[in-house]
Amino acid sequence: KPGTTPGPLKYNGTKLIYDKDHLWNPTKPGDIRGPCPGLNTLASHGYLPRNGIATPAQIINAVQEGFNMENRAARFVTYAAFLVDGNLVTDLLSIGGKTKLTGPDSPGPASIAGLNTHAVFEGDASMTRADDFFGDNHSFNQTLFDQFVDFSKRFGGGLYNFTVAAELRHQRIKESIATNPKFDFTSPRFFTAYAESTFPVHFFVDGRNPVRALSMENATLFFRDMRFPFDFHRAAEPIGPDGIREVFAPYPIKAGKNINGINTYTPDPTSADFDTFCLLYTNFVTNTVGGLYPNPKGVLRTNLIINLKNLYGGLSPTANCTELFPYGKV
Ligand code: HEM
Ligand code: MG
Repeated sequence: KPGTTPGPLKYNGTKLIYDKDHLWNPTKPGDIRGPCPGLNTLASHGYLPRNGIATPAQIINAVQEGFNMENRAARFVTYAAFLVDGNLVTDLLSIGGKTKLTGPDSPGPASIAGLNTHAVFEGDASMTRADDFFGDNHSFNQTLFDQFVDFSKRFGGGLYNFTVAAELRHQRIKESIATNPKFDFTSPRFFTAYAESTFPVHFFVDGRNPVRALSMENATLFFRDMRFPFDFHRAAEPIGPDGIREVFAPYPIKAGKNINGINTYTPDPTSADFDTFCLLYTNFVTNTVGGLYPNPKGVLRTNLIINLKNLYGGLSPTANCTELFPYGKV
């Protein structure tokens, strides 16, 4: 049922994740995978349904259990993705492409097409996936992964750490400015890009390892094979996108886009950035969700209200953002 939001883990220390109840299976025909190596891996080990179709509650439980993602961060990211890519009526989300398995469409323009959907959550300048403009925004891209490895060698002594994260994030932005006429680096992508740059350090490194840096062997397992390393233990404590400012600081850039072809990157003052955090929430609710569902009725409207409340609940209370009710209250 929509509305039931998982709370934090009861036991929130490290523990064995690659156990006998969560063996790795190769994908079967029909199984769906997408742009997120974290969710792909959880599905391939049965922490999520192996076909890649899940409820928001299943996703929150899985990222907490399997990676020790902190509860609020898990809720915010999950409900944001679910609101724009999921089926609000059936409570199901595809972690990849569009499928009938999430149920019948609701009146558009919402496409209900899974995490692969470009521009509502998925965005440009990903580390190991190409920009949507080049035709495939979700598959593991070996050429980009080679660059991930090269940067980890040059800046991290062969390991992916925050220094590498900052260099590679800057590199991917430069590449997109210079090659993708449709490059868009406005909110929410502005935030998710920096957050995702920290995730391999927080979540893909074994929780027993005091060195927070990821080996290329294990990076290959997660990004390409969607597989936990043998004996993998999750992070030692709940963690969210800590360190995004560290990744941002060496090469600060304003949120913006190529407005007229390649090399026309122009700041967009209407986009949220790190100084206007609540605007991320406001723009997302008003423009992104509002654009997809201008006039919802019945159970769709009710579930939009419920899931928007859940999204707001994922914001830190210290951010002190004003809650919005574009569809009223239940
Ligand atoms: C990327 C969804 C949790 C690791 C993405 C993308 C989506 C997504 C849609 C594509 C964005 C893009 O690169 O264009 C989600 C949702 C989550 C979640 C809904 C629910 C909480 C996690 C977790 C991890 C993770 C727990 C790590 C264990 C990553 C990484 C990328 C990514 C590293 C960047 C991939 C790249 O740049 O090549 N995620 N994610 N995510 N996700 Fe997740
Ligand atoms: Mg992308």
